Amino acid sequence: MKKIIIAALLAAPLFAQVNEKIEVPYVPFPIKMGTGFDAVQANCLTCHSFGYIINQGRQSKAFWREKVDKMIIHFKAPMDEAAAVATTDYLFEHYGNDKLK
Ligand code: HEC
Repeated sequence: MKKIIIAALLAAPLFAQVNEKIEVPYVPFPIKMGTGFDAVQANCLTCHSFGYIINQGRQSKAFWREKVDKMIIHFKAPMDEAAAVATTDYLFEHYGNDKLK
């Protein structure tokens, strides 16, 4: 009996029919505007979405600086030190946990 139910459950999606229009929900990322956002836009969003950044949650300043350095060293993000500092400050201000380390 169990096997039949499991088989029926597994097969069910194969026969599912949808007649209504499907609307994909719009999920806005809470991008916070502020000083340094232009640096993030110019230096980070060229390669990937903001999701990569906010998925990290609130983090320390050292964490954000390490991420910025990782992007520069490993992925060749074309940024100078001033841009790296501006980006780190922005990230720590809006997505920081108040800890420097
Ligand atoms: C040259 C392309 C490039 C640029 C510019 C870039 N990134 Fe990335 N970033 C990547 C790639 C590729 C990954 C995916 C790495 C992986 O899947 O392991 C990534 C992943 C990430 C992640 C996910 C966590 C991790 O450690 O992989 C974060 C956070 C991140 N980037 C932040 C930034 C920030 C902040 C900037 C701007 C300073 C930036 N990125 C600029 C290429 C880039």
